[in-house]
Amino acid sequence: MADHARGVPVPPFRHKPTLAGELALLRPTTVNDVAALLPMLHDPEVARLTGSHDRDGFDEVRLRAWYGSRVDQDDRLDLAVVERATGRVVGESVLNDWDAGNESCSFRIAFVPGAHGRGLGTEATRLIVGYGFEELGLHRISLEVYASNPRARRAYEKVGFVAEGVLRDALLWDGERVDAVVMSVLAPEWFEHRGRAV
Ligand SMILES: CC(C)(COP(=O)(O)OP(=O)(O)OC[C@H]1O[C@@H](n2cnc3c(N)ncnc32)[C@H](O)[C@@H]1OP(=O)(O)O)[C@@H](O)C(=O)NCCC(=O)NCCS
Repeated sequence: MADHARGVPVPPFRHKPTLAGELALLRPTTVNDVAALLPMLHDPEVARLTGSHDRDGFDEVRLRAWYGSRVDQDDRLDLAVVERATGRVVGESVLNDWDAGNESCSFRIAFVPGAHGRGLGTEATRLIVGYGFEELGLHRISLEVYASNPRARRAYEKVGFVAEGVLRDALLWDGERVDAVVMSVLAPEWFEHRGRAV
């Protein structure tokens, strides 16, 4: 018997959608994506921009276990970003840190080297954040972006993320301290602009 037929609430993240845009297609991440995502996970520039100090978990066995189990998670949504023009997996986009009581979650995204700056990030962000508001019924989606990452911030602003505060000196990278900017979109804002804020 299905959970909903037993009266058990079905976590909204259990369903894993495929979301299609003009440039990008987002679909559930699988173990088969590890090879395509490795260049992203090992890219020093992605590490800097995402503030990833601890890279010990990036051996292939652990990565296969991680990506192979994303489809079974019922409290988060991990989608691979596929470039439609080439069919290539160019990155991942994630809704995580679900806070059911407050109808909120976090968002993050990263691409392999060479996939940046072609509009894929803006569109992928718009697709998964739109899904969060329009299908999952979330009220708030938030993220943190380092002050050293104006490209990501620009993509987020285009989709409607609003800067709401600064975590001063949040990151120490190569001897330099970097602020993190907290950004969010709220559901009423989303339904005004549907991810086309700028
Ligand atoms: C963040 C990321 C997903 C964005 O995706 P993307 O495909 O590169 O972004 P887009 O091409 O859609 O948009 C980038 C925008 O930033 C602008 N931009 C690029 N470099 C910039 C800079 N130095 N300063 C300001 N804006 C910049 C681009 O012109 C574009 O804006 P426009 O469309 O108005 O011209 C991608 O760059 C990435 O994976 N980066 C590495 C990992 C990362 O930073 N993850 C996010 C951590 S918070």
